Amino acid sequence: MGNKLAPEWLKEPKDANAFPATIWPRDSRRTANGELEIGGVPVSELTSQFGTPLYVIDEDEFRARAKSVQKAFEDAAVRIGSTAKVYYAGKVLLAGAVVRWIDELGLNVDVASAGELALALASGIDPKRIGLHGNNKSLTEIGRAVSAGVGAIVVDSEIEIERIAAAAGAQEKVQPVRIRVNTGVHAHTHEFLATAREDQKFGISISDVPALVAKIRESSNLEFLGLHSHIGSQIFAVEGFAEAAKRLVKLHAELLNSGPVPELNLGGGFGINYVESDDAPEIGEFASQIADAVAAACIEHGISVPTLAFEPGRSIAGPAGVTLYTVGTIKDVNVEGSVRKYVSIDGGMSDNMRTALYEAAYTVRLASRVSSADQALVRVVGRHCESGDIVVRDDYLPKDVLNGDTLVVAATGAYCFSLSNNYNYLTRPPVVAVRSGKARLIVRGETEADLFDRDVDLHDKFASANKDSY
Ligand SMILES: Cc1ncc(COP(=O)(O)O)c(C=O)c1O
Repeated sequence: MGNKLAPEWLKEPKDANAFPATIWPRDSRRTANGELEIGGVPVSELTSQFGTPLYVIDEDEFRARAKSVQKAFEDAAVRIGSTAKVYYAGKVLLAGAVVRWIDELGLNVDVASAGELALALASGIDPKRIGLHGNNKSLTEIGRAVSAGVGAIVVDSEIEIERIAAAAGAQEKVQPVRIRVNTGVHAHTHEFLATAREDQKFGISISDVPALVAKIRESSNLEFLGLHSHIGSQIFAVEGFAEAAKRLVKLHAELLNSGPVPELNLGGGFGINYVESDDAPEIGEFASQIADAVAAACIEHGISVPTLAFEPGRSIAGPAGVTLYTVGTIKDVNVEGSVRKYVSIDGGMSDNMRTALYEAAYTVRLASRVSSADQALVRVVGRHCESGDIVVRDDYLPKDVLNGDTLVVAATGAYCFSLSNNYNYLTRPPVVAVRSGKARLIVRGETEADLFDRDVDLHDKFASANKDSY
């Protein structure tokens, strides 16, 4: 009989030593000595060179996913007589190397703050291929984006129209803008809800949009690109996107009566598999059903299909990344007659906030060796002073899991490094890209000198310390 503490969706893995491609990077395999090899690099090499915790990005997997996501949306748009622009949502994983990959592959990039914008610009991507988001952009952010010449700023509230127009006017420029629409469609992972207005901070209600578009069109320093909507993240329900598209095309058609509306941006949010029971639609499925919904709505309103834009993040970076940890203490905790094994690792909610933040589910496997021991229900927990400091809430690991073993957690390429923090003054881990048997450090790990750099009283004491650490 299974462990009573296991959630219903969780099954004991049929082969605890396997790395199925539905969750893991395609070239994850066991070497002859039984350890995980990713991108042709055995984990022992990674851990001995860079330590743990360690974010590992399989560069080929990232590139392949970026290409296939781009192709899926482009093909779907062509099928309905249009074209598509794909923006990589930088918030999921942003680093100089990552922007370079995106740039080389011909995708655009989406940023949501002055810091993300500065990183993208410093990485050398053409500013015209950058979109800027944010529900509360500062005047400085707006000014920097306008002076850099970003291809689009997404207006999220009325006051931003004046602010962007003023910045563009002061610089004698014309700034292209979109309007983020609150479509009233909110998608959960498997279902969606449609109301008149979704109860959250982003976007402008459908009924308020025409007046704002008129205001944009009145300004000689603004160019109206079109509407934008992003209905949520980690969504499996394609119908949610289709409903949002239907509502947006109706509004888009109304706006065409008073001027040009060249584009329609339908955002990101395409779900991925984190655990074996997840069954996320293929990206081609999302793309083709959204295109069908757009095409049908365009026919209904008698308009031609505009250029489409999309902002996928997780579906590109998520499955390309894994995190390596070293096992520390282990405790068997008896809960009403059933045992849950608490396996503590050397990271936690500072390198993966998603479990604490969203009760996200993850998959964990033994990476440093194979084991044929029976499976134990485990909870993989971090080293922070917080009982909610959980990385993998429910999974199985071989019963003989030991202090010193390396564990690997799947699909941590999105929203892990970017959400990392210094709670309890832990240093944030490095990010390494693996490809063709080689590992390359793309973001070094923090040192104590980094940690205390801003502490005015301690800065000098730590400035020279720990320079060599990853
Ligand atoms: C405006 C916008 N676009 C795109 C994304 C990317 O979403 P995902 O990573 O789920 O594809 C987000 C994420 O929240 C977002 O806020």
